Amino acid sequence: MSRLAVIGTGVIGNGWIARALAQGWDVVAFDPDPQAPARTQSFIDNAWASLTQLGLAPDASPERLTFADTIEKAVDGADLIQENVPERLPLKQEILAAIDAAAAPDVIIGSSTSGFKPTDLQQQCQKAPGRVIVAHPFNPVYLLPLVELVGGESTQTAQIATAQKLYQALAMRPLVVRREIEGHIADRLMEALWREALHLVNDGVATTEEIDAAVVYGCGLRWPLMGTFLTFHLAGGEPGMRHMLEQFGPALKLPWTKLEAPELTDELIDKVVAGCEHQAAGRSVATLDRRRDDFLVELLEVVQKYWPEAEGLEGRI
Ligand SMILES: NC(=O)c1ccc[n+]([C@@H]2O[C@H](COP(=O)([O-])OP(=O)(O)OC[C@H]3O[C@@H](n4cnc5c(N)ncnc54)[C@H](O)[C@@H]3O)[C@@H](O)[C@H]2O)c1
Repeated sequence: MSRLAVIGTGVIGNGWIARALAQGWDVVAFDPDPQAPARTQSFIDNAWASLTQLGLAPDASPERLTFADTIEKAVDGADLIQENVPERLPLKQEILAAIDAAAAPDVIIGSSTSGFKPTDLQQQCQKAPGRVIVAHPFNPVYLLPLVELVGGESTQTAQIATAQKLYQALAMRPLVVRREIEGHIADRLMEALWREALHLVNDGVATTEEIDAAVVYGCGLRWPLMGTFLTFHLAGGEPGMRHMLEQFGPALKLPWTKLEAPELTDELIDKVVAGCEHQAAGRSVATLDRRRDDFLVELLEVVQKYWPEAEGLEGRI
């Protein structure tokens, strides 16, 4: 039986809890917010339907979760520790130092950070800083399989290899990022798209709904299967990527995209928020979460059907 310690139980921490419970792990959580246990309970109640559809481990049970009242108690005896406190570097450094001081030196401590580099996260850790790595998941963590693993300056290859095995045991697909950079890989890609989308709204070219339609019915529909590069390889016809680059390469110099984010003025914020509320059409985030989860469960099966040879990420990269 394996045990996960989860520090910080917001959207992402709760996602880790639900995933680990579904895989039959014990979970011990810590969060200073007195409302946290109740919030986690209703989060698990909601996630369990999708997890059951995907298939639970034989001994999986929501009963395997307990809350501890200190970080020290939460990490005691853990096989893996996942930190999910708010995205502020000084806070993360302080919490990771406390976790590092309390945990046995060979236990991997993964941070869910969306953008910080592991070497910066390790700064205040005294005991075994190399085992503090980035383990960046995607929302909803209990359904999306990717976790980006990034080691810092003092991380050994063996520690990343250990982390790979642990996250695989949580039914994830670890992607080891070769070099630490802010935003890792996927968030860099998502932010580039996000900046351009904000420009298009700001310049009055499109509404939030129109931009989402362009993604949902156009470019995005292919991405679950092939991603950016293989999609463009097919766009070059029989000669593939070489022809695609000859044909569309010159457009890269125009350039179509702005790269720098627009200023988040009150006007832009109001436009984006009103646009999203219009799209939600009175449906709560919980209702939309449910719809997304049902969709993702089916989509994961479809992806598996079309990449049957892909046992792990190696099968696709
Ligand atoms: N939301 C996303 O889509 C997403 C995706 C991937 C990674 N992340 C990363 O995950 C991390 C958490 O993000 P989130 O969206 O879950 O945030 P959140 O605000 O939903 O949750 C943060 C939780 O941390 C708790 N917390 C605050 N101070 C704490 C402390 N001292 N000790 C323990 N817990 C404490 C809060 O009570 C809260 O429950 C961030 O680093 C973020 O970058 C977020």
